[in-house]
Amino acid sequence: MSTTPKTQTDSDPGRLPMTLPRLAEKKRLGEPIVMVTAYDFPSGQIVDGAGADIVLVGDSGAEVVLGYESTVSVSIEEMLMLTAATRRGVRSALLVADLPFGSYEASDEQAIRTAQRFVKEAHADAVKLEGGGAARLSRVRATVAAGIPVMGHVGLTPQTATALGGRRAQGRTAQRALTVAAEALALQEAGAFAVVFEAIPASVAAEITALLEIPVIGIGAGAATDGQVLVLHDMLGIYPGRAPRFAKQYVELRTVMTAAVSDYAEEVRTRRFPTAEHSFSIDPGELRGFREGLAEFER
Ligand code: KIV
Repeated sequence: MSTTPKTQTDSDPGRLPMTLPRLAEKKRLGEPIVMVTAYDFPSGQIVDGAGADIVLVGDSGAEVVLGYESTVSVSIEEMLMLTAATRRGVRSALLVADLPFGSYEASDEQAIRTAQRFVKEAHADAVKLEGGGAARLSRVRATVAAGIPVMGHVGLTPQTATALGGRRAQGRTAQRALTVAAEALALQEAGAFAVVFEAIPASVAAEITALLEIPVIGIGAGAATDGQVLVLHDMLGIYPGRAPRFAKQYVELRTVMTAAVSDYAEEVRTRRFPTAEHSFSIDPGELRGFREGLAEFER
């Protein structure tokens, strides 16, 4: 969908841009799909350069980048800015943008208009929206019919977590697990190209994944889904809040970053930074002339 030319990456010149048929092929071949969130130019570059198949500009950015209490506060304009910045860093991965809370629920027309803005203004390849009830299915159908690929999201849907009784695992009774299955199958039927399963028992996720033809990307949904997604700031240990139990932290960058800034502050205060290495010089004759000129000011 993007009008930004997607060329081969510098880190892997042989790498082809990710497309919807390639994702479907990965499911068919049983090749795990890697999805990671990103929210700006450098994080987009890093995640894409590291080889992610899908980069998600998640509305989790509301919390981990913009400092809101929850995802419901983020606006369309803020998500557009984060998506456009990420787009500039992503060259090969498929770029999916989360439609923020309040930007697609009211009508099919509203969903289409918002999704179009993410494609036209921020150059997203696809959008993601949460939920699998009748109204959401209608939004998915309408958006797909308007030519914009849609990723679904079921299980724990943070935008409506209050209605779900809080941020807790979903599908833990037979009846609720069947609801998740019905929603996922209906999203596939409505035209979604993939679906996120969040916080669902691993065995339930495994069985629904086997039923679906579209790829399932799991987060807190066990190892049998077709792919996995993590929030970048949880993975890198940057966000100070408590990460969900299902997030794996691969490094503790917050400590590394804080130590680097403390070192800088200490060097500034003790005049150990900058050194000659970080300074510019001037020809000695020019410096003499400058000093003579300066002396004139003092008269
Ligand atoms: O907003 C987000 O980061 C997400 C992922 C957790 C799937 O929706």
